[in-house]
Amino acid sequence: MLKAYADHWGLITGASSGIGAEFARQLAARGMHLVLVARREQRLRELANELQVAHGTKCEIIVSDLAKPGEPAKVLADVRARGIDVELLVNNAGFGMVSGIDETEVDRALELIRLNVSTLTEMTLLVVKDQVVRGHGGVINIGSVVAFQPVGYMGVYAASKAFVLHFSEALWAEMRPRGVTVTTLCPGTTRTEFFDVSGVPGWAEKNRSQDVKTVVRTGLAAFDKRKQYVVSGWINYILSLAVRLATRATVVKGSMSVFRPRKK
Ligand SMILES: NC(=O)c1ccc[n+]([C@@H]2O[C@H](COP(=O)([O-])OP(=O)(O)OC[C@H]3O[C@@H](n4cnc5c(N)ncnc54)[C@H](OP(=O)(O)O)[C@@H]3O)[C@@H](O)[C@H]2O)c1
Repeated sequence: MLKAYADHWGLITGASSGIGAEFARQLAARGMHLVLVARREQRLRELANELQVAHGTKCEIIVSDLAKPGEPAKVLADVRARGIDVELLVNNAGFGMVSGIDETEVDRALELIRLNVSTLTEMTLLVVKDQVVRGHGGVINIGSVVAFQPVGYMGVYAASKAFVLHFSEALWAEMRPRGVTVTTLCPGTTRTEFFDVSGVPGWAEKNRSQDVKTVVRTGLAAFDKRKQYVVSGWINYILSLAVRLATRATVVKGSMSVFRPRKK
C-alpha cells in the first residue's frame, strides 16, 4: 500500500494526453509529486506548469520513446539519479491498432507489443523490486475491457491487454502480503486521442464512451481499496462478465462486427 500520496512521488508513463494526463491532474490534487514521461516534450512542459501552479507540487519531465528497447531501464536510472523513489507507478503509455490482416504493418504490431507488453513488464518489475524492499508502494497498470476477450480486427492490441491483466493480477496476489498493491484499471471506450492513433478517428465520439475524469476516479478508488482490477463503467463490467458465459467461438465471431471495415 502507499505510505501516502502527499509529498511522495508518482511516475506516469504516457502523461502527455488522455488518461495519463488526467492521472497527473488527480494525483497532483492529492499532493503527489510527479515524474511525467512521454515523447511530446511541449505537452509535458505545459502540464507540469499547470500542476505546479494549481497544486504547488513538484513535477519532473522525462522525454522518452518507451517503445525503444533499453528505454524503461534508462528512464528509471534517470529517476534514481534525481534522488526520487517511485511510490506509485502508473503504466499508462500504450496505443491501439485497428486493421485487417491485409493492412496490418508488422513493424507497427511489434512496436505495439514492445510498448504495451515489454515496457510495461520491465517498468513494473524494476519498480516493484524496489518497493518490496521498502515495504510499501503501488502500481496501476492500464488494461482494457478488451483484455477479457479476443477482438477481430484488433487482435494484437486485445492480446496485449490480456497479457497486462493476467501479469498484473498474478503480481497483485504475490505482492499483496508484502505491502505493495498492483491494480489493473480496465477502461472501456474513453474519449482521448486513442482512436485517432488506432486508425479509427472519431470512433469514441460516435459510440458509448466515458470521459477521462470518470475513468481515472474509478481506477484510483479501486487502487485505494487494494483491488486487483476494476472495469470502468457498469455496462463495460457486465460485458466483461458476459463473455465468460458464451463459447469462445461465439465471443470472437461476435467481436468481428465492432471494427469490421465498411464496404466501399
Ligand atoms: N481511450 C480508450 O478507449 C482506451 C480504452 C482502454 C484502454 N486504454 C488504454 O489507456 C492508455 C492511455 O491511452 P489514452 O486513451 O489516454 O490514449 P492517448 O490519448 O493516445 O494517450 C496515449 C499516451 O501514451 C503515450 N505514448 C504513446 N506511444 C509512446 C511511446 N512510444 N513512448 C512513450 N509514450 C508513448 C502518448 O504520448 P506521446 O505521444 O507524447 O509519446 C500519450 O501520452 C493506453 O494504454 C490505452 O491502451 C484506452
